[in-house]
Amino acid sequence: MTSVLILNGPNLNLLGTRRPEIYGSATLADVEELCRQEAGKLGLDTVFRQSNHEGQLVDWIQEAGTEVKAGRCIGAVLNAGAYTHTSIALHDAIEGAELPVVEVHISNVHRREEFRHHSYLSPVARGIVVGFGVYGYALAINGLYQATRT
Ligand code: DQA
Repeated sequence: MTSVLILNGPNLNLLGTRRPEIYGSATLADVEELCRQEAGKLGLDTVFRQSNHEGQLVDWIQEAGTEVKAGRCIGAVLNAGAYTHTSIALHDAIEGAELPVVEVHISNVHRREEFRHHSYLSPVARGIVVGFGVYGYALAINGLYQATRT
């Protein structure tokens, strides 16, 4: 079965309790369930991961690139959290692995502090979903699926 990778970066393990006025009350486990439901409708398996460590995310992106080339994975939905705004390493990993990525942000980062307005990932992303709460993951899975269909 073909899979879709859902990657979550730093502090997203705290979803549900961290700034609920910004990120809502859903937990990361709720997001995983939502992703499984949505991917399932498209006949896709879900690989769902979270790490607070930049290098771990780089490793997973590289591995996913190999999976995509082998035809076992369509790409990744990536919420890199604050690494979005700092990480050239994640930019290079996506580019180097030629991994189709949809960048997701739960909050509308453009309505927030200036330092959240720049993304190192957007230039190497297939698409971007911002500001729709955790429902953005469902939108991103569908967008990635459509964008990578041959
Ligand atoms: C976030 C936005 C980032 O600026 C922030 O650092 C996060 C979450 C979002 O989903 O809205 O950790 O990526």
